[in-house]
Amino acid sequence: MKINCIGILTSGGDAPGMNAAIRAVTRSAIYNGMTVKGIYRGYKGLLSGEISEFKTNNVSNIIQQGGTILKTARSAEFREPEGRKIAYETMQRENIDALVVIGGDGSLTGARIFAQEYNIPIVGLPGTIDNDLFGTDTTIGYDTALNTIMDAVDKIRDTATSHDRLFFIEVMGRDAGFLALNGALASGAEAAIIPEIWTEVDQLEALIEHGFRKTKNSSIVLVAESEVTGGAMGMAERVKQKYPQYDVRVTILGHLQRGGSPTATDRILASRMGAAAIDALMEDQRNVMIGIQNDQIVYVPFSKAIKNDKPINRDLLNTLRILSI
Ligand code: F6P
Repeated sequence: MKINCIGILTSGGDAPGMNAAIRAVTRSAIYNGMTVKGIYRGYKGLLSGEISEFKTNNVSNIIQQGGTILKTARSAEFREPEGRKIAYETMQRENIDALVVIGGDGSLTGARIFAQEYNIPIVGLPGTIDNDLFGTDTTIGYDTALNTIMDAVDKIRDTATSHDRLFFIEVMGRDAGFLALNGALASGAEAAIIPEIWTEVDQLEALIEHGFRKTKNSSIVLVAESEVTGGAMGMAERVKQKYPQYDVRVTILGHLQRGGSPTATDRILASRMGAAAIDALMEDQRNVMIGIQNDQIVYVPFSKAIKNDKPINRDLLNTLRILSI
């Protein structure tokens, strides 16, 4: 099928580098003779018809900006068949033949269902700071968020050291520990508490048994936000009850992890992936997410990217433990 017009949207939590991806998709599509329509506020814009044509200058001067110029949303209506019907009608009215969806797990799940129901070519780009999509080594926004975490922890370390305190710093990741684990390695933290191994070991007890304050008076532990771990607050409460000798503090980094100008790594990744999305559509690929494995662009079927849990490198926990003696 010849694709004349593509629609592009960003959906779910924003991630630094989404703008670089919008720019790359738009310019590659125009270069290949396609018309581009920007759809605002994720799937919501497909329901409300908030759409406008993008020319090359609509994406000028955005590669360095955090957030997404297309705005984003989590649409409850699109989860219902009636909502998706309206979205399909909008696509027909706007003559949009195919979609490029930039987002995380939830957004690509929506894309997969929509593509199957209406036989629409859709290509996804992994846009999430969580790095929790299977089939790609990394996701757009992850590197920037890691750097933001590292900078924040460096600052907290100054005060932690001055006061001889134990800090639990909560980082994002939904149910994945990539930000916590690699953030801990990058910032020289004592440990990372991650949901992936929570049911196997009590990581807090293991940390205390390991004697985490034998050689130091201050400590920093990164905790992945998660209901299963109870987050940084949960950890601090447990320590206060059981080990009152420690002077404990909590910092929740929150949404500052989602903002900021994307790093070079994220800009390059987003640019490569954005261009690859158009290649994929021209090669008649559909229902795939663009991934990167060993620096090579790959096409990952939506079913794999969404359904499989991305494994975390558990050896890194050991490395962290060794390096924190
Ligand atoms: O998926 C990205 C993410 O930032 C998660 O790490 C976090 O759990 C969630 O989004 C927060 O969502 P919201 O911005 O809707 O509070």
